[in-house]
Amino acid sequence: MEIPLYFYIAYEGLDRLSPGSEDTTLEALDRTDFNVDEELNMLDIACGVGSSTILLANRFKNSTVEGFDLFKHYKDSLDEKIKENNLQDRVFAYEMDMNDPDFANEEFDLVFCEAGIEIIGFEKGLIEWKRLLKSNGYMIVSDISWLKKPSAESRNFWKNIYSEVDTIENKIEVIEKSGYEFIDYVIVPKNDWNNYYNKLEKNLNQLSSDKSANDFVKQLRKEISFYRNNNEDYSYVFYVMRKD
Ligand SMILES: C[S@@+](CC[C@H](N)C(=O)[O-])C[C@H]1O[C@@H](n2cnc3c(N)ncnc32)[C@H](O)[C@@H]1O
Repeated sequence: MEIPLYFYIAYEGLDRLSPGSEDTTLEALDRTDFNVDEELNMLDIACGVGSSTILLANRFKNSTVEGFDLFKHYKDSLDEKIKENNLQDRVFAYEMDMNDPDFANEEFDLVFCEAGIEIIGFEKGLIEWKRLLKSNGYMIVSDISWLKKPSAESRNFWKNIYSEVDTIENKIEVIEKSGYEFIDYVIVPKNDWNNYYNKLEKNLNQLSSDKSANDFVKQLRKEISFYRNNNEDYSYVFYVMRKD
């Protein structure tokens, strides 16, 4: 699938495609009872530029990690990182659709998806990806959630972008209803959002003369300024759960 050039420019040089950080991802991983020396099979769904895929591989040095994204550009980007880190023997990149992940049932000890489950939908993703997990395997996904009763503006803003934004309590209810034991959650801190948006904003400045990018840039700028004014209301939250 092809992505317009302005999209690449907007995200060029960013080490991630969503607000987050290595520390926050590691905090979520620490909620599992994995031993870092275990030989585990892990999957990173919608891996983007692949930073978390590599982080998983570096954290769990005896594990195999597979990552995929819908777009070849990102598969290639993960492939480059695999080579740079000399991880060809145990990290693998694919171009694949999260709606139809081509892996066997019960293949993975961990299915990980950072800032991607909203594409398939939170509940649908939890249900459809469950088959990929071994029994007692872990799923870690991050999803936009309300941190408190949101303002009418926040509710309205998100209603038009992602209808499954909900409270942490309601997300946990969906997790349990979908056949998982809920383990814990980790809120992506404001600092992670600010670092990400500051870098993204710099890239957007380079697109100011590209008319074809106008709507795209306008939408991203709106998202950034909306976050800055309403960051008490919502965040990405990592949910850590275990297959029942
Ligand atoms: C917000 S980014 C998150 C990327 C990465 N996990 C991160 O946190 O940096 C969402 C990713 O989902 C990918 N994507 C979109 N639709 C997809 C699909 N149907 N299947 C797999 N990946 C998809 C995009 O290409 C993008 O890399």
